[in-house]
Amino acid sequence: MREGEPSRTAFGAAALRAVHQEVDEPRIFTDPLARQILGEDRLPDRAWNQPRLRLFIAVRHRFAEDSLAAAVARGTRQVVVLGAGLDTFAYRNPFPGTRVFEVDHPATGAWKREQLVEVGIEVPDEVRFVAVDFERDSLAERLVEAGFDAARPAFFLWLGVVPYLSDDAVRATLAVVAAVPDGEVVLDYMKAVEDAPAAARSDRATLEAHVAQAGEPLVPGRDQEHVHALLRDAGFDEIEDIGRREIRARYLGLPPGGSEGDAHVVRARVTRR
Ligand SMILES: C[S@@+](CC[C@H](N)C(=O)[O-])C[C@H]1O[C@@H](n2cnc3c(N)ncnc32)[C@H](O)[C@@H]1O
Repeated sequence: MREGEPSRTAFGAAALRAVHQEVDEPRIFTDPLARQILGEDRLPDRAWNQPRLRLFIAVRHRFAEDSLAAAVARGTRQVVVLGAGLDTFAYRNPFPGTRVFEVDHPATGAWKREQLVEVGIEVPDEVRFVAVDFERDSLAERLVEAGFDAARPAFFLWLGVVPYLSDDAVRATLAVVAAVPDGEVVLDYMKAVEDAPAAARSDRATLEAHVAQAGEPLVPGRDQEHVHALLRDAGFDEIEDIGRREIRARYLGLPPGGSEGDAHVVRARVTRR
């Protein structure tokens, strides 16, 4: 992140969701505010030229919001969007009686609030904005200051953020989620691509160059065993991890062939105490 500046990758991810609404078949993730939150800015050309990344981003949000719906059906009434960027869940939240905490780096959060006013998206009363740098600040303290009840169940969406964070920041954040009753999180991570097919390596090189240029370099890829160990060490005992093969089968109805890909999305929950 560039000091004092909003995240540029947040704009990029939102642009991919907006283009997904317009061109992808099937549409995996429906977000009626995806275009509006971007304002009048022209969408970057590359948003049309990244079908694999668009698919992955659509899937991670669909998977997260489907998992959230199941958590709400079990009784969860607190939702925390970590590293929210231009995520729009809070403004189209279909679950009455749930409170939404949008957590982001201070500069990105401030920019988003201005952007919401600028583009005319109304912020419901139950939404709270929380400024946190995951590398430095206490997420638990900031959430409680904002009215979060750490003694009640909560669901955390943490999408497109872990690939930018150190292991220490990931551990600290997972500890906060796991300490909450019925704590559950959906996050995504990127593996190393040395053994991946040429198309995946080329996509990844493009992404790495772009985000580095935006001042938000990715940390080195993490393997699945490492991510699962981080989750288990934090106390998560239910882990559902989907990669490209499962994504193709589940969301595109294609035979689960091909390579596993480098981007994974994971749901992790604490069911035992
Ligand atoms: C690629 S964007 C993803 C945004 C959004 N979750 C989405 O899926 O569109 C990365 C987000 O992580 C946030 N972020 C990155 N590093 C952070 C840090 N150290 N502390 C807090 N937020 C951070 C950025 O501000 C940005 O909103």
